[in-house]
Amino acid sequence: MSGKIVVAIDGPAGVGKSSVGRSFAGEINYMFISSGKMYRALAFKALEKGISPSDEQALLKLAVSSDWSFKPVQGPEPLLYLDGRPLDRELSDEEIGKATSSVARLLSVREFLVKKQREIGAAGGIVMEGRDIGTNVFPDAPLKFYLDASPQARASRRVAQLKQAGLEADYEGILKMIIARDEQDSKRAHNPLKRAEDAVYIDSTSMSKEQVCQAMVNAFRAVMEGR
Ligand code: DC
Repeated sequence: MSGKIVVAIDGPAGVGKSSVGRSFAGEINYMFISSGKMYRALAFKALEKGISPSDEQALLKLAVSSDWSFKPVQGPEPLLYLDGRPLDRELSDEEIGKATSSVARLLSVREFLVKKQREIGAAGGIVMEGRDIGTNVFPDAPLKFYLDASPQARASRRVAQLKQAGLEADYEGILKMIIARDEQDSKRAHNPLKRAEDAVYIDSTSMSKEQVCQAMVNAFRAVMEGR
């Protein structure tokens, strides 16, 4: 069989799934989708409307009644629009991250967003990153990656990013937050973060972004040659 496939990328918070995934998608000329942004967008809208991020019924209603769309912009990652409003940087706030963790625990909300994610990937030509992409959203994806790095390496990278942006960074605090987020993501009842058995495992602890991206491109070429 030929044609464009779906590539799944999963892994813990702060491992670089988005930044490496975006470069990788650019290299292979695929579209890049961060599924976490969909969970974040819903949490963002809920907070704006004063809805609790653990009120499952209200959140499901909010998700179903919203207009979800992606519009192409420059680069492999389209911009997410919720009810015609573009959402991007505002989704990275720490407050939104915390609320998103609660939203992502709710089964009916997950089922709704997973359905949307499957629609987005239906035609192939997509690199999608998240926590359950290879295990739940696209269990039959011909290529799956599980990106990993030690919590210490992820915390150091985050500190460097913040410093580069001229912001204050507290390594110990960030490390604690990363460990807590790992625990939350991997211990929740529905579709927890888990390594798919058939995923290519990449431990990026001592790899550069370019090296990880190259390893992914090589794996992609090998899969495509075999099809
Ligand atoms: O990758 P991220 O930090 O943007 O994810 C935000 C939250 O959403 C995080 O708590 C994990 C959750 N999430 C999820 O449960 N399933 C996904 N496919 C993507 C993200």
